[in-house]
Amino acid sequence: MMNQPITRRTMLMATAAAAALQAVPEAMAAPPRRRRSARVEALIARMTVEEKAGQLNLPTFPGATAAGFNPAAPGAVFEKLLADVKASRLTGVFNSSSLEAMRRLQEAAVKETRLGIPLLFGGDVIHGYRTIFPVPLAEASSFDPDLAERTARVAATEATAMGLDWNFAPMVDIARDARWGRIVEGAGEDVLLGSQMAAARVRGFQGRSLRDDDAMLACPKHFAAYGAAEAGLDYNIVDLSEHTLREVYLPPFKAAFDAGALSTMASFNEINGLPSNANSWLLGDVLRREWGFGGFVVSDYNGDLETIDHGLAANEREAVKLSIMAGVDMSMASGLYLKHLPDLVARREVPMAVLNDAVRRVLTVKEALGLFDDPYRRLAAGREQRLRTAVHVALAREAAQRSIVMLKNEGDLLPVPTSGKRIALIGPFADDKANLNGPWTVFGRDPAIDLATGIRAAVRNPALVSVTKGSNVNASIAGGIEAAVAAAREADVVLLAIGEDQNMSGEASSRADIVIPDAQQALAEAVAATGKPIVVLLKNGRPLALKGAVLNAEAILVTWFLGSQTGHGIADVVFGRQSPSGRLPVSFPQVAGQVPYYYAHKNTGRPNPPDKIDPYRARYLGVTHRARFPFGHGLTYGQIVYSALDLGGGTIKRGGTLTIAATVTNRGKRAAVETVQLYVQDVAASLTRPVRELKAYRRIALAPGESQQVTFNLRGTDLAFLGRNGRPVIEPGLFRVWVAPSAEAAGVNGSFTLNA
Ligand code: NOJ
Repeated sequence: MMNQPITRRTMLMATAAAAALQAVPEAMAAPPRRRRSARVEALIARMTVEEKAGQLNLPTFPGATAAGFNPAAPGAVFEKLLADVKASRLTGVFNSSSLEAMRRLQEAAVKETRLGIPLLFGGDVIHGYRTIFPVPLAEASSFDPDLAERTARVAATEATAMGLDWNFAPMVDIARDARWGRIVEGAGEDVLLGSQMAAARVRGFQGRSLRDDDAMLACPKHFAAYGAAEAGLDYNIVDLSEHTLREVYLPPFKAAFDAGALSTMASFNEINGLPSNANSWLLGDVLRREWGFGGFVVSDYNGDLETIDHGLAANEREAVKLSIMAGVDMSMASGLYLKHLPDLVARREVPMAVLNDAVRRVLTVKEALGLFDDPYRRLAAGREQRLRTAVHVALAREAAQRSIVMLKNEGDLLPVPTSGKRIALIGPFADDKANLNGPWTVFGRDPAIDLATGIRAAVRNPALVSVTKGSNVNASIAGGIEAAVAAAREADVVLLAIGEDQNMSGEASSRADIVIPDAQQALAEAVAATGKPIVVLLKNGRPLALKGAVLNAEAILVTWFLGSQTGHGIADVVFGRQSPSGRLPVSFPQVAGQVPYYYAHKNTGRPNPPDKIDPYRARYLGVTHRARFPFGHGLTYGQIVYSALDLGGGTIKRGGTLTIAATVTNRGKRAAVETVQLYVQDVAASLTRPVRELKAYRRIALAPGESQQVTFNLRGTDLAFLGRNGRPVIEPGLFRVWVAPSAEAAGVNGSFTLNA
């Protein structure tokens, strides 16, 4: 791929840049050999082929907790599972919430099998175990990896207290198509933010040492490019250049592995004709040889079996052969490894060495988790007091506050005073309790704080708050609009809680049209016709194309799915206890037909000016190629002004650093948190570059009237990209630079030159 000669005169190989990017063929020499564990080798020497296949077989735990998150697993009952454990037919299970059941299984594995190999207990702890935090996309709005690390730490503390060793998270798929339901599970569209969030979540889950009883093995997923599904359709094919794969989709995985993650999950999708489950280039050449990944790869649910429907494997047996030979060590759910590996090995279609390697990787990670030394270290009874502590709940509230993004606030309608105002809380999410935690809440069972409860708790006189549903999520209610209009007429301000329910995002929940459902749009139009000021409290798991009365509301807060403390978190921002500080980790398009839309797009040969529509330019009929609310956008209650860009000498060397400074002032009357963003554009390069790329960001607190000079140290290596030959290059020339409040705001901007 990409083997054309490099013609640009000054093109230079950037050795230092190699660290920043992923395509480093020179570095593909075999990674450093890890010392093998004597214990693991001794076990492998004693294991039968059947026992080895058992170590690679991961069934789901039968029962209510796991139900509804995956296709049904027919015939799965606890007694069968227990019998299978005793027969060494499995390596562990996932999505069990029963400590007692897991303990029983572990006892059987350790005491009632020939070799006593401990089980591994996995689970989808995507945004909290019992204390539920904002969905990952929401949390990414904080632009604060430290917050993500702290919530991940709490999630692991709780999950490990309830027996889990291994988390099927973080989901680190870059997602640029808002139709895709699983955009809600990741950190959004940007490579830098996505990579930093990925690493932070791994650190949080895994803690200081994997052996600790509150450490949880991370599993960055879905490897790879699952988020690039064509047309935003879940499970759809991915057709992608290696260049974009490496520059956009792989870096968050690399960051997660560099942070120490020792497992990963092969994605459902194909890339360029090859399902990840059979992609030996991806799992072997890139992951293991180029990156030196020493952990194990688990398939996604039935991933091996699905190579048949993909049209790759002719039958189950071949599916297993393709998967194990490609480097998928463990088979989730299908049971096919157990069924076919012994025969495949007996007939030498799968070399014993391949089987041993897979088993070695799994056992080595079990050992790293301390399971051989104490198989019950995460299964001790009586640790429920670690769940949902006051500290955890307080963190959930902080995370909720900081995940909220204020898109607009005309006439400073927000914050709403806590007294003296009659408030009409209207909409299907006004006091709804079913859509607070958000998708992928597998283990959370305690009630979350709903919006009405949060609002009433925050105002002086709760009697001044009326609550009217007005509409269902997808269908109108007889008399609903009339009731809502009457409530609005009685009020000084309307809080309109509308948007998506939690089944409209998550797995297998792609939407063809990313708009507010008609019934709710009609509600919004009718309420707006009263002329009362409206604050839209948007509930959503993805960017939405807003229009009409929703878009024209005086104020809009994106509130996503915020978890246990939803109502309090929103009230804290609505009433000004906290200034909104979230930033969009994904661009909101003007209309649904623009997706996939992302800020870091290319210019094209006929770029359209930002704010008007020119003929024969890259734009739609009537719609510019711009976001309605771009990546990085988010307002505060302060009034933020950018000034005084200082680019030092205005030149940078490849191995050098350029200090970029700007002054940021809060001219408003309220305290503010501003996320100052640094973007660059490589103006003329040997391959076209995005119109902007985020290179750094900094959150600063500004008191009313305060100014701060914010400095960024941009390194020459930050300007590296993958050149025509797939190698990192840093090319001399002109770069535009913005220090700005969003990816499409002018902020303060200028240019500098990179000298050879
Ligand atoms: C399928 C999903 O794609 C994956 O993210 C999840 O971890 C597994 N099911 C197990 O629940």
